[in-house]
Amino acid sequence: MTGLHFDRHRRLRTTSNLRSLVRETKLNAEDLVYPLFVLEEKGIKNEVASMPGVYQVSLDHLLNEVQEITELGIKSIILFGVPKEKDAVGSEAYNDEGIVQQATRLIKEQYPELVVIADTCLCQYTSHGHCGIVENDYVQNDPTLPLLVDTAVSQAKAGADIIAPSNMMDGFVTAIRSGLDEAGFKEIPIMSYAVKYASAFYGPFRDAAHSSPEFGDRKTYQMDPANRLEAMREAESDIEEGADFLIVKPALSYLDIIRDLKDRSTLPVVAYNVSGEYSLIKAAAANGWVNEKEIVLEKITSMKRAGADLIISYFSKDVAKWLKEDGEV
Ligand code: PBG
Repeated sequence: MTGLHFDRHRRLRTTSNLRSLVRETKLNAEDLVYPLFVLEEKGIKNEVASMPGVYQVSLDHLLNEVQEITELGIKSIILFGVPKEKDAVGSEAYNDEGIVQQATRLIKEQYPELVVIADTCLCQYTSHGHCGIVENDYVQNDPTLPLLVDTAVSQAKAGADIIAPSNMMDGFVTAIRSGLDEAGFKEIPIMSYAVKYASAFYGPFRDAAHSSPEFGDRKTYQMDPANRLEAMREAESDIEEGADFLIVKPALSYLDIIRDLKDRSTLPVVAYNVSGEYSLIKAAAANGWVNEKEIVLEKITSMKRAGADLIISYFSKDVAKWLKEDGEV
């Protein structure tokens, strides 16, 4: 046929090497953060039932896990504590001998270079499972702030490199920033869960961290999944209050929000690829319904393409392994 004029986009797809030359988004192990669940007691390495391949580990198993992670080239972990004792005010969260504080000291002693991010929240530590102080069946904003500050300062004292407040109280970034500064931690950055939706995708995490709310839900503090402009307001406040990183959570159903933040802010944007997003793929892969490696790499790449500079994922170890095996993706 002559006389037809059209572009030949397929020219750039003819060979694998050519495709890799023109690939716009490439993953690196440095893009990945691995979440770790740490337990008190000894000799425990429990696989989380709803998250195959993810373990809760006691302190004596922790360094083995960390060794595996660092050998894969991953440069950062985020720590979640699962305490033995819980009470109404989450005291174990800001106990200097709490589980995250102990885990942080242990890790930083052996792996001083590894960037340890401490998740700063109360829900694993409160008997009612909410992320703040409860009065009259309502999670109270302002009375919760000092407890978050105490938690953050205690985590920083233990050696945490980054504080990641995740409980969606208004003003938590400014409260924690001034608390850290006063305690002499001016150089410790805040990675704010700036945009955190009240999501059904957190189900498996709540098994892993024993943090399901005893009554009600988190909809008075976490965001409505239908809202986009509100996400921008949340992020604007956190930027003004002094956040150093902005997290969007969950990731996959919120790629539009990741892109919006990337376009509006110069701060590093972090995608939290949450537990339910992990479990869905694991379940389908176990049934042979999807190719796990291909589907995981596609979705992690999509988060980076959407604008995420960093990706927190339970797949981080797998991705790092595949990147090593394949040279690049
Ligand atoms: C604590 C917290 C949650 C997650 C991270 N930090 C759960 C929640 O808000 O209930 C979820 C992580 C995941 O699902 O992987 N506030």
